[in-house]
Amino acid sequence: MQINGKVAVITGAASGIGRALAQELAQRGAKAIALVDRTDVATEIANSINERAGKSVVAVPFVGDVTNEEFRKKVFDDMTANHGLPTICVPAAGITRDKLAIRLDKTTGKATIYSKEEFQLVLDVNLTAPIYWALEMIARIAEDRFARGLKRWDPSEGVQGAIVLIGSISSQGNRGQISYSATKAGLEGAAATLMMEAMFYGVRSSVLHPGFTDTPMVRSMGNEYIEKHVLPYTLLKRLIRPEEIADALCFLISNSAVSGELWADAGWSPSA
Ligand SMILES: NC(=O)c1ccc[n+]([C@@H]2O[C@H](COP(=O)([O-])OP(=O)(O)OC[C@H]3O[C@@H](n4cnc5c(N)ncnc54)[C@H](O)[C@@H]3O)[C@@H](O)[C@H]2O)c1
Repeated sequence: MQINGKVAVITGAASGIGRALAQELAQRGAKAIALVDRTDVATEIANSINERAGKSVVAVPFVGDVTNEEFRKKVFDDMTANHGLPTICVPAAGITRDKLAIRLDKTTGKATIYSKEEFQLVLDVNLTAPIYWALEMIARIAEDRFARGLKRWDPSEGVQGAIVLIGSISSQGNRGQISYSATKAGLEGAAATLMMEAMFYGVRSSVLHPGFTDTPMVRSMGNEYIEKHVLPYTLLKRLIRPEEIADALCFLISNSAVSGELWADAGWSPSA
């Protein structure tokens, strides 16, 4: 599937991986890109993409919360009305709320269980929201096909759309990430199901699992954590650059023979 000339929706586009992907899609000739984020840094990034690209691409900032259904619909309504139907969706917005699942107080002997409220928040942002942003695009492609009298997708039409969900190496488990790892593992099941259902409308779905990537999310863990718990278990002995993840995302978007999951982990090999 060509990226050139396509309309894309990226969430979490104000930072890290989402931001690098927006820049990469612009360079690869996307016609229009929605930069969705809760911070209005998305506006600065859209402006800089537009300045660099001239008239060949339009980056459009949308500031809001990805868990908000009205906001999600507005993004797709505006993009469709002004630039055409989005056919690439990478819902990359994500958060961490890291704590041990069970913490035992060594003086009182009392065990504290990970907060359910925090678990629910991480679920809402990292699992439910990306799935619903993907579903929004598939639904609109389905309606568009119906309106044009098209029935079941036929390979001769070419692929109609691509979704890439952002998993993580933590989907296989990571100490202190009970909520985060559960959401990232959950995305695997969602992507596999969407692959089966959405191909009816010609839409592919896959998951990219990045390893530790040099973004504010990872930097917030602190240098000491990175030196002690990340680099020793990363065979490349460095953090991954967001641009490398953006390149892998473009591979998943554009190479239609690829389905399922791709690991871009710089040789992550954690100890027991
Ligand atoms: N950095 C890594 O090492 C790494 C590894 C594996 C997976 N990931 C995943 O990649 C994705 C991007 O991560 P990143 O490292 O670029 O993080 P980041 O913190 O740099 O960027 C995340 C962006 O998402 C936005 N966001 C968060 N909650 C939001 C909400 N409710 N509504 C709208 N926007 C919201 C933030 O404002 C931020 O701009 C996430 O899904 C993350 O889980 C990151």
